[in-house]
Amino acid sequence: MNSRTSVNDMSGDVPEISRYNREAVLSLPHASEVSIFDTTLRDGEQAPGIALSPEDKIRIALALDDLGVDIMEAGFAASSEVERDTLKRLMDAGLKCTVCSLARSRTSDVDAVLNTGVGYVHTFIATSPLHMERKLRMTSDQVKEAAVSTVEYARDHGLRVQFSCEDATRSDPIFLKEVYKAVEEAGAESVNVPDTVGVILPRAISSLIKDLKKDIRIPIAVHCHNDLGLAVANTIAAVEAGASICHVTVNGIGERTGNAALEEVALNLYANFGIRTVDLSKIMHTSALVERVTGFPMAFNKPIVGRNAFAHESGIHVHGVMCDPLAYEPFPPELVGAGRQIVIGKHSGEHSVKGRLEALKVRFPEDRMPELMDAIKSFAVGGKEIDDMELIAIAENVLTGDQNKEKAVILDGFAVFTGAGVEPTATVTMTVKGEKRIVSGIGVGPVDAAMNAIAKAVNPNMTLEEYRLSAMTGRSDSMCEMTVMVKNVQDDGQLSVGTAVGLDVVRSFVEAMINAINRDFAKIRE
Ligand code: KIV
Ligand code: ZN
Repeated sequence: MNSRTSVNDMSGDVPEISRYNREAVLSLPHASEVSIFDTTLRDGEQAPGIALSPEDKIRIALALDDLGVDIMEAGFAASSEVERDTLKRLMDAGLKCTVCSLARSRTSDVDAVLNTGVGYVHTFIATSPLHMERKLRMTSDQVKEAAVSTVEYARDHGLRVQFSCEDATRSDPIFLKEVYKAVEEAGAESVNVPDTVGVILPRAISSLIKDLKKDIRIPIAVHCHNDLGLAVANTIAAVEAGASICHVTVNGIGERTGNAALEEVALNLYANFGIRTVDLSKIMHTSALVERVTGFPMAFNKPIVGRNAFAHESGIHVHGVMCDPLAYEPFPPELVGAGRQIVIGKHSGEHSVKGRLEALKVRFPEDRMPELMDAIKSFAVGGKEIDDMELIAIAENVLTGDQNKEKAVILDGFAVFTGAGVEPTATVTMTVKGEKRIVSGIGVGPVDAAMNAIAKAVNPNMTLEEYRLSAMTGRSDSMCEMTVMVKNVQDDGQLSVGTAVGLDVVRSFVEAMINAINRDFAKIRE
């Protein structure tokens, strides 16, 4: 275990997430120190659809090291030259954690590890009757002999060794213990119990670990797959029974339905057992990086790191969270480096809508709230979330519903001049509250120049807060939809949103601006 190995601490800032857990845990002789053996770069990378380049692996490895994992299984040295080069680069990267490579129980695989300079090997061989008979075509004696001789070979060559009985949870318990005992004697520093196809129950892994602990003296690791959705529960049950090394992957990526998720295991260990492992505040950042680099999308409802993990929409929940966030959150999102989100959508109540409008400094008359709530509900059909710009636009629509009102600003014409080696310039001709104005503006591009010209004509204090352009097809003659959000049309800090659709990007921008300005002038001020 390295310097960042976990410590057990039920005092101080550890939140009590459920008194029932605390009481249940106190009665258990669970492991008090747990090491995180991260296999994101090995088992995680084996997930169909993920293929990491050496640079991808190094980026993720640096983040995992910063997160504070103890052991990082970064690849399988025997698999390719590129894999060996990546392991070598990781050894030169000055990581604080221990870098490990996987190896089958054969000397050539160990030689491949030795070739990389990695000092820690995870050797394995299958011990279930199914794997031995049908896949390996080896007898149990041959399997045991391969396991032991490979551990001895690795130890003789100076490597630290963790050994796994692949498919342990479908292996004969007597043979399983015999193999683990033999590799312990051969010099392995820990043994791992893989639930290779994710079939075991928490209660069963608990008895298995307890039984192994009667005879095995070295630390026991667990490696749980998620085929039946029990990977994290099984990992925690194994720790309760005395396992002290958890194999995990960030976001739970891995073969088929994946492995026990690092973030879920780490949070459970901390909040339920007071066991500190990784730096929890870096969880969100690491998870997002792994999602981006692997391109493996995460479910919205993924525990701890999914985009809905701390998002609240329904009226009752938002109200509860506004009174006290713990009403509908198991722990504060900041603990894992995340933030709370109040989502405006079909299920929102007035509390959240008012809260959001206040945060955006949008004034909205109390007596028109029922109309606004109706408008939000009809806009959000089909589960659509309403973002800030859309909320402002809906609120304005409610307030400026009478489209026959005279417009404060009329666009009479505009021209832009742009190209290479010239300063982009825009000239607008408009009537502002009955007064004709012709104004020019310059900018970094035609849109910026048009914005500056319009601001000069209407109010120089006006600012463009945001604009969005979306093309409706992928062709150059596509229609485009422009949405702009402006502030301070009338020097009162209010935001106003305008939209326009057309074939010309700059023209659509100018029309959207005029639309936003007219909406602001048409708003009923309290
Ligand atoms: O799931 C598994 O059995 C493995 C082994 C290589 C340990 O990943
Ligand atoms: Zn695995």
